[in-house]
Amino acid sequence: MSVSEKKILITGGAGFIGSHVVRLFVQKYPQYHVYNLDKLTYAGNLENLRDVEALPNYTFLKGDICDAASMLELFTKYQFDGVIHLAAESHVDRSIANPMEFIYTNVVGTVTLLNAAKEVWKGKTGKRFYHVSTDEVYGSLGTEGYFLEDTSYDPQSPYSASKASSDHFVRAYHNTYKLPVVLSNCSNNYGPNQFPEKLIPLMINNIRHKKPLPVYGKGENVRDWLYVVDHARAIDTIFHTGKEGETYNIGGHNEWKNIDIVTLVCSIMDKKLGRASGESASLITYVTDRPGHDMRYAIDAGKIERDLGWKPSLQFEEGLDKTIDWYLSNEAWLNNVTSGEYQKYYATQYQ
Ligand code: NAD
Ligand code: DAU
Repeated sequence: MSVSEKKILITGGAGFIGSHVVRLFVQKYPQYHVYNLDKLTYAGNLENLRDVEALPNYTFLKGDICDAASMLELFTKYQFDGVIHLAAESHVDRSIANPMEFIYTNVVGTVTLLNAAKEVWKGKTGKRFYHVSTDEVYGSLGTEGYFLEDTSYDPQSPYSASKASSDHFVRAYHNTYKLPVVLSNCSNNYGPNQFPEKLIPLMINNIRHKKPLPVYGKGENVRDWLYVVDHARAIDTIFHTGKEGETYNIGGHNEWKNIDIVTLVCSIMDKKLGRASGESASLITYVTDRPGHDMRYAIDAGKIERDLGWKPSLQFEEGLDKTIDWYLSNEAWLNNVTSGEYQKYYATQYQ
């Protein structure tokens, strides 16, 4: 998609990854107008975007991607040129506790957006619907091997099953209705603004409060970590230069066992907080494993590197250090998201 004046809809822009994508697009492309559509669930926070919200090329739209009438109205009113779809329920443990929420938002919500785009873009050219997805759709790896774009889907949790289903619908709309789509499947992100239910910010927050650090099972499960700004850069690259109908895997070539990450976070935080070496690690508590816990994820990001020239820019140790510093200097943000204070405030501001 070429860089000229455009109206871009970003869904889930108040969430973790979405807020970094919104910031990148608003700052890098002043000729674009970025519309951030978000329902402001527990995971969505406009505080994540305070530094860009006053810019003239940014508009926030509160809305629910499952609301078909509103989505059609929005697409008709704004005539978006491109959509970058990130809105989702994103936490695996919540999907185990409440799968229906994931089916509504991730499947019904995605198809609702596809329908609005199909309807309003009929007969028009130069449009693009970019669906942001996860490596979890490929299932779980043993000690060897990597996920490639043509790895068979084998989702194992309600979350990954809902994301896999949404990916299939996006491809089905491309195949059946010729909707101009592009997709990506990314590995685990970390960085500022991630809700502290996910491994890294949860550990940082608990260390801060000297609370137990719950490690599932033996802590030997492996994830492939990528700094969130590098994911946002990849999304920018794919949105502009990815080939229509294609899928790109995104990852950091950065595999870590959970227990090694937790131990590393503990030792960095002991130093930063002036605590005795080993003090935070003494909080590590092995707890009952996540049901159906995927053993290992690892992305082969060769296609996006070769075809589009994207590579991660940040080393893990540097990214982790920056992330810990961000959480330590944004205690109010952490306290507000964990207490639900922001959501109470938004309920009075946005109906
Ligand atoms: P997040 O939970 O931090 O943010 C999700 C955002 O979507 C929130 O702002 C929330 O308010 C919004 N939202 C939820 N339901 C909505 C609805 N019905 N209508 C409108 N907005 C709604 O999620 P994240 O971690 O930033 O993930 C963003 C996307 O990237 C998701 O699609 C996720 O599957 C995908 N992804 C995430 C990771 C990761 O490591 N976090 C990795 C790969 C892919
Ligand atoms: O791989 C991409 C996916 O990464 C995204 O699609 C998801 O949206 C995102 O949440 C993430 O899923 P994970 O389940 O891998 O992330 P989470 O941070 O929940 O867990 C990371 C690993 O740490 C996982 O093996 C479970 C483990 N874990 C997690 C928590 C929250 C613990 O051991 N203790 C914990 O308290």
